[in-house]
Amino acid sequence: MNSIFTRRSIRRFEERSVEPEKIERLLRAAMQAPSGKNAQPWEFIVVQDAEKRLAISKMSEYAGMCRYAPCLIITLANMDYNTDNGIWWVQDMAACTQNILLQAVEEGLGAVWLGFYPIQSRIETMRKYFNLPENIVPYSIVALGYSERKNEFIDRYKPERVHFEGWTKQDKQ
Ligand SMILES: Cc1cc2nc3c(=O)[nH]c(=O)nc-3n(C[C@H](O)[C@H](O)[C@H](O)COP(=O)(O)O)c2cc1C
Repeated sequence: MNSIFTRRSIRRFEERSVEPEKIERLLRAAMQAPSGKNAQPWEFIVVQDAEKRLAISKMSEYAGMCRYAPCLIITLANMDYNTDNGIWWVQDMAACTQNILLQAVEEGLGAVWLGFYPIQSRIETMRKYFNLPENIVPYSIVALGYSERKNEFIDRYKPERVHFEGWTKQDKQ
């Protein structure tokens, strides 16, 4: 089974820090994502400092684990790289975030995607904290680290959601 099938959201972490070469591979995976018109609109802030992690953990009611995750990768969209009047960047950033999660599994790490975009209050708090210019939009945080909890397969395949050759309404199973 590959990382797509075993990836799970991991929210509890050991104190052990993540090796710099692993962090680089996560960022390489992020930048390998597909993007509309190959715009590659992403930027990243890597945070390991405990004080900053504590501050970030308070930026969303669902981000409490940032305090304990040894490494945070904040994904940001740079609107200067945006093409086509900005219609694809949200998908680009989602693909980029997912790549980080999948590479984390490959690296023997646990990770969780924390949503920031499109919640304006979270975006503005983050923007103020890092003094980000207007063209930079905080998109997501991946909180990651070593974990005792393993990435574990759960089967989510629902054949009734698949429609071959056209729309077929089936009874729920
Ligand atoms: C756009 C998005 C935003 C998310 N935001 C949060 C979050 O703020 N806090 C959190 O603990 N999990 C967050 N998650 C993780 C989901 O809760 C998780 O993926 C889902 O429950 C399925 O579980 P799994 O990842 O273990 O398969 C988010 C996931 C996505 C895709």
